[in-house]
Amino acid sequence: MRILTFGQTGQLAKALKRTQPGYFELIQLTHQQVNITQPQLIDEALAHYRPNIIINCAAYTDVERAESNATQVMQTNVDAVRFMAKAARQYGIRFIQLSTDYVFDGLSSLPYTVDQKPCAINVYGQSKLLAENIILQQQSNQFCIVRTSWLYHNSGKNFVTTMLKLMSQDHNNAMLMQGLIPNINVVNDQTGSPTMVDGLAHFLWKLCLQKQWSAIYHWSDAGMCTWYEFAQEIQSQAVALGLIPTKVTLTPVTSEQYNSPVKRPTFSVLDTSHSHLILKPKPWQQQLAQCLYVRAINKD
Ligand SMILES: NC(=O)c1ccc[n+]([C@@H]2O[C@H](COP(=O)([O-])OP(=O)(O)OC[C@H]3O[C@@H](n4cnc5c(N)ncnc54)[C@H](OP(=O)(O)O)[C@@H]3O)[C@@H](O)[C@H]2O)c1
Repeated sequence: MRILTFGQTGQLAKALKRTQPGYFELIQLTHQQVNITQPQLIDEALAHYRPNIIINCAAYTDVERAESNATQVMQTNVDAVRFMAKAARQYGIRFIQLSTDYVFDGLSSLPYTVDQKPCAINVYGQSKLLAENIILQQQSNQFCIVRTSWLYHNSGKNFVTTMLKLMSQDHNNAMLMQGLIPNINVVNDQTGSPTMVDGLAHFLWKLCLQKQWSAIYHWSDAGMCTWYEFAQEIQSQAVALGLIPTKVTLTPVTSEQYNSPVKRPTFSVLDTSHSHLILKPKPWQQQLAQCLYVRAINKD
């Protein structure tokens, strides 16, 4: 079975490559090869490769910058998905669109189910929601949406690698040189579920083997935490593995104190029970441990 992804350099695309089962053929196109905002390039790629399934890993994912770049966000996250859906229909290709917990407003206190009505509160979330609607309008069991949350891996740019950098000896020394006491402020009033990206990739490979799809799937690691609690766990595990020398003070702050230019949902946990027939997620702490362990053994 031939799978094609757009966006080769992203976290998810790389995870699909790392976890690729031998019985799938994987074709990954870079941003340079196919800029997805150009419909003709999408069409040419699909006509040439004729994959069985597209997994769209390409997106404008910078949630903060999205607020001031709405046009580019809509072109990448909405218009491109419309072109892909149209071409996929034309060539009889199945299509998996990645989406986000940020399609929800965060006012719930219970995990969001696949049936709940979304309501996005920032530009990024709104763009992903518009893309979801394009997929749902196809009314086909050969098109589906996979929502996920708080993606990370042990390399690249994500919350885990940012925390490890801020907790590093070099960073702390630099702070001390400036006469500052090492400290990291972390938001403690937003709750979600961290998702190690390789787990999502495993879920997607299993999904590719399903003959028919539901309209929407939710995938995250099991359990929930705030960003502050996530940072605490990263720190404890990283010290135990020798990835960082000592603990740095972590200070819990509110979103208001953190003063981010973008509104984020205060609660965006996804109810993944609908996906358990395909694969059961592992606890997020266990996935983090696996991810940091690999970083630690590669460090030496
Ligand atoms: N990261 C998260 O926490 C998170 C959470 C929930 C859902 N998601 C969703 O999960 C999916 C994968 O996310 P990710 O974290 O793997 O994203 P990522 O690491 O930011 O990667 C995005 C990829 O899209 C490519 N891209 C951007 N604009 C493009 C364009 N016009 N044409 C072609 N390629 C383009 C980027 O290429 P360049 O780098 O070359 O521009 C990059 O390879 C996305 O749909 C995202 O919305 C992510």
